[in-house]
Amino acid sequence: MLRFKPGRKAATTEVPPNRAEPRALPEHVAIIMDGNGRWATRRGLPRIAGHKRGINSVRKITRHAKERGVKYLTLFAFSTENWLRPKDEVHGLFDLFRYYMRRECRTLAREGVRIRFIGDPSEMPEDIQSMMVEAQDMTASGDAMTLIVALNYGSRAEIVAATQRLAARAAAGEITPESIDDAAISAEMNTADFPDPDLIVRTSGEQRLSNFLLWQAAYSEFLFVDRHWPDFDEESFDECLTLYRDRDRRFGGLRKSG
Ligand code: FPP
Repeated sequence: MLRFKPGRKAATTEVPPNRAEPRALPEHVAIIMDGNGRWATRRGLPRIAGHKRGINSVRKITRHAKERGVKYLTLFAFSTENWLRPKDEVHGLFDLFRYYMRRECRTLAREGVRIRFIGDPSEMPEDIQSMMVEAQDMTASGDAMTLIVALNYGSRAEIVAATQRLAARAAAGEITPESIDDAAISAEMNTADFPDPDLIVRTSGEQRLSNFLLWQAAYSEFLFVDRHWPDFDEESFDECLTLYRDRDRRFGGLRKSG
């Protein structure tokens, strides 16, 4: 096994300078809310019943994450691939989203939660696009936590669009190809205003990223939880925080000890 020379301690200079020291609490948690369909099917219910219960978890976990001091919570609500689902399910999800926005926006604003969206809104129904703008406006001053909802989001599409914009600028002579670095690419992402996720959680036992935050996940910790999203509660979230705290994040550097 390749080992570093003894005495060459885990110098902090080994850690990229833009990375903060590992923190006990993740500043940004991103969640792939999986397993709604299986939760419902196992109970002999239609899949949409699972999504409906999933909304309860969204509410509970949003409030709880804020109470725990998490500053950014990203939830993967609808992917660019989810259009492949039966029309009924897609429409059902949009109806649930409308219901959530009508019921929750005022509460989020009151609780100091700022809502933001990532993904391509242009393919969403027009009334939902208006609701998204209203929700962002209504909650703009929230400074307790930012809830980022990924809606019609696909990471490859995001990277392709960012690359095209940078290439167009280079072709126009506004920037040189050599000036394109990590920061320049991050600034073109939908997530430009937010830090990268410290922790990515996927529920329901599946272990994959499914085109979620591919660029932003470079140094994220991953947790795959054996529980469907409707059953993911405050206690499950706290367990994730505990497991995260015990991780040794090195960002390509060396271990803190040993
Ligand atoms: C994955 O379960 C879940 C989704 C595709 C949708 C998640 C959406 C919500 C919880 C509601 C809307 C969200 C907000 C933020 C208002 P699945 O259907 O893939 O489950 P399965 O893998 O068991 O089939």
